Amino acid sequence: MACPIAGDISDNSEHIFRRQDHDQDNDKLNQRPAMLYSEYLCLDKILSAQRLLSAEYSDEVHDEHLFIVTHQAYELWFKQIIFELDSVRVLFSSESNSYDGSNKSSSNHSTTKQDNGVSHILNESKTLEILKRLNRIVLILKLLVDQVTILETMTPLDFMAFRDYLCPASGFQSLQFRLLENKLGVKQEHRVKYNQSYMRVFGRDSKAIEAIKRSEEEHSLNILVQRWLTRTPGLETHDFDFWEKYKRSVEKMLAEQEQAAHKQPNQQIKEYLLANVRSRQAVFETIFNESLHNALVLRGERRFSYSAFQGAIMITLYRDEPRFSQPHQILMALMDIDSLITKWRYNHVIMVQRMIGSQQLGTGGSSGYQYLKSTLSDRYKVFLDLFNLSTFLVPRHMIPPLTKQMKIKLSIAWNGWNSEDNQNKSGDS
Ligand code: HEM
Repeated sequence: MACPIAGDISDNSEHIFRRQDHDQDNDKLNQRPAMLYSEYLCLDKILSAQRLLSAEYSDEVHDEHLFIVTHQAYELWFKQIIFELDSVRVLFSSESNSYDGSNKSSSNHSTTKQDNGVSHILNESKTLEILKRLNRIVLILKLLVDQVTILETMTPLDFMAFRDYLCPASGFQSLQFRLLENKLGVKQEHRVKYNQSYMRVFGRDSKAIEAIKRSEEEHSLNILVQRWLTRTPGLETHDFDFWEKYKRSVEKMLAEQEQAAHKQPNQQIKEYLLANVRSRQAVFETIFNESLHNALVLRGERRFSYSAFQGAIMITLYRDEPRFSQPHQILMALMDIDSLITKWRYNHVIMVQRMIGSQQLGTGGSSGYQYLKSTLSDRYKVFLDLFNLSTFLVPRHMIPPLTKQMKIKLSIAWNGWNSEDNQNKSGDS
């Protein structure tokens, strides 16, 4: 097997002129104390961390090994997700070009001021990197959803044979899982009641409590995404004014639906259609009336600020424009993350019911299955609004047409802020 650490420095005659450099590099490598695969990966620590409690109680249960390794594998992947998530949050916070194309200096503009460790302006040239890392998180989560099935090969009877030994240890005490939730943007007030006191399990572990508090105070991915959406080009009321145009399209669409309903000869169908139009009007009212929107935010039924919500709708409707392509993919990846975590919760709950039934308390002291089932609701969907955007779509032919200027603005690929300014100046008005 090729050594993953030292690599393979070839002696290719075509590159003979580089050979001297290679030889020198080789010398340097050779002078370093030889690093072995197991040393690099600290395998001595990782592979000796499977301590079977059942064996210590002289009653070794074969499947406890799988139980431990599965949890450890989860924790390692949680670590990688947090690593990616932190880096994505930094990218979202980077100080550079703004969405309005003005290329403000990062050092002296007030909106770039650090706030809770992050600034307000996204360097749009980082969008592709953000997307790559979010997609990596999505793939890891897919793996984690499936990984549950391996543990399900353990039978409840086998689990019963060692479960008592590990009490009161529980996944409820997984610090990394809580950090992951908080960094994504799960809010304390949206958690189910038992979960709201999740900090208590960390007791006197001051490091864990400190890390949790920091994760609650820092800007979550959700907050940073909202800030970014707020700056969606086209929302400016003095310019394209997307929201006003979209509102007119919706009114036209609903008026047409109402007319069609009135033409319906069958009275029962007519009433059904009219009721449907009225209910749609009421739903649309919640996005056109800012106070209604804010009331839903207060009730936890909507999460995004009013302008972030508008940005998300705009990107969704014009996703075919080149400049909205990556933002649209980012929105899709955020939904994937939410839905995969929900799927993980679901698979975990089903496994828990299979292992301990629905009437036994969890080792962490909760009601077990019943508690976990209650976490399956929309409360834990950080990007809930993105899922609900479909309610507010209009058919393609009713999407407000872009002005020529707006079309140019959105046809320009990422990181072309200066060229965009130049084109705007030299061409169309
Ligand atoms: C036989 C397998 C498993 C059983 C029976 C089980 C059982 C439970 C129970 C009953 C709870 C509720 C808290 C409590 O009172 O203990 C819980 C929570 C939790 N478990 Fe598991 N679990 C299993 C496997 C796993 C695995 C493989 C992971 C992966 C890390 C995991 C992670 C978690 C997490 C993160 C929570 C907290 C969830 C929340 O509060 O939303 N569990 N588990």
